[in-house]
Amino acid sequence: MNLAVQLAPAHPRGLLLKNPVMTASGTFGYGTEYASFVDTQRLGAIVCKGTTLKPREGNPQPRMKETPAGLLNAIGLQNIGVEALIKEKTPLWASWQVPVIVNIAGESVDDYAKLASRLDGVAGVSGLEVNIGCPNVKAGGMEFGKDPKAAATVTRAVKAATSLPVIVKLTPNVTDIVEIALAVSEAGADAVCLINTLRGMAIDIDTRKPSLGNICGGLSGPAIKPIALYMVYEVAGQVKIPIVGCGGISSAEDALEFIMAGASAIEVGTAQFVNPRALLDVLEGIERFMQKEGVNELSELIGAARH
Ligand SMILES: Cc1cc2nc3c(=O)[nH]c(=O)nc-3n(C[C@H](O)[C@H](O)[C@H](O)COP(=O)(O)O)c2cc1C
Repeated sequence: MNLAVQLAPAHPRGLLLKNPVMTASGTFGYGTEYASFVDTQRLGAIVCKGTTLKPREGNPQPRMKETPAGLLNAIGLQNIGVEALIKEKTPLWASWQVPVIVNIAGESVDDYAKLASRLDGVAGVSGLEVNIGCPNVKAGGMEFGKDPKAAATVTRAVKAATSLPVIVKLTPNVTDIVEIALAVSEAGADAVCLINTLRGMAIDIDTRKPSLGNICGGLSGPAIKPIALYMVYEVAGQVKIPIVGCGGISSAEDALEFIMAGASAIEVGTAQFVNPRALLDVLEGIERFMQKEGVNELSELIGAARH
C-alpha cells in the first residue's frame, strides 16, 4: 500500500510525506517529548511548537481547562525562540528520517519574514507552517488570518524570504474561511492547514472568575471536529493546493473523514493528551481500512466524499 502524500507539488523540492499523519503544533513539543510513547520516525511529519523571533513566557496561569469533549488552552505561544530552536533542536532533527516542519508566529509581517529567512537552509527543517491566527500588533491587534489582504501579505513575505515549502495555517474564527484560503493560495502558499482553535471561555462559579488567566482560550478536541471537517470540505471545493486537515481528530475514522472531505494529510493534537499513542493508532487504523477496502493508493481516498 502506498500512503505517501506530496504536500507541495508546485514547489521545486516538494514536501513528500511517507504517510499523511502529522502532529498538530503545540501538542507534540519539539518531537522528543513523546519518544517513550511513539516511534516518531513512523510519522508522516512532525510540526513543532509555535516559534517566535524572541523567546516567550506565554500567558498567566491557569492556561488549560477541560470542557465537554474539548480543551480550552491559552498557552500564549510560550517557546524558546528561533535562535535556541536552531541551536538546540535542529541538529537532532537533521539526523531524523521524519521531516520536521517549524510552526512560526509573529506580531508583524516583518517578524514572519525574518523567521522565514532565519530558518531557510537550516539542516533539519523541511518546511514552515505559518500560524496566521496571531494579532497584528502594528494594525491594532486584528489577527492576520481574519483579513484576506493581511493573510496574503504574510504569505507573500514568507514565500519571498525562504526556499522552504510553506503551509499556511488558517484560523476558523472568521466569517468565510474559503475567502482566506483563496487569498493565501493566490499569494503562493504551497498548502493550507485548517483549522486552528476556536475562541471560547469558561467561568469558575466558585471564584466567580474566568477559568483561564487570559480569559479567552482556544477550543480544541472532538468538540470542534464537525466544524473543522466542514471547513476542509468547503475549502477543498475551491482551492487547488493540498489541504492539511486538523481539529478534533482522535481516531483513524476521524482522519479518514477529513481525507474523504479533501485533506491530503491530517494533524492530530489534543487526542494525544487522552491517548499518547493516538498518532500511531490513527496511522495503523488508516492502513487497516485501506487493506479491508482493497485500496492501494491513499490518493484514491482524498476527496472521495466529494465525487
Ligand atoms: C496546548 C495547545 C497548544 C497549541 N499551540 C499551538 C501553536 O503554538 N501554534 C499553532 O499553530 N497551533 C497551536 N495549537 C493548535 C493545534 O495545533 C490545533 O490546530 C488545534 O488544537 C486543533 O486540533 P486538535 O483538536 O486535534 O487539538 C495548540 C493547541 C493546543 C491544545
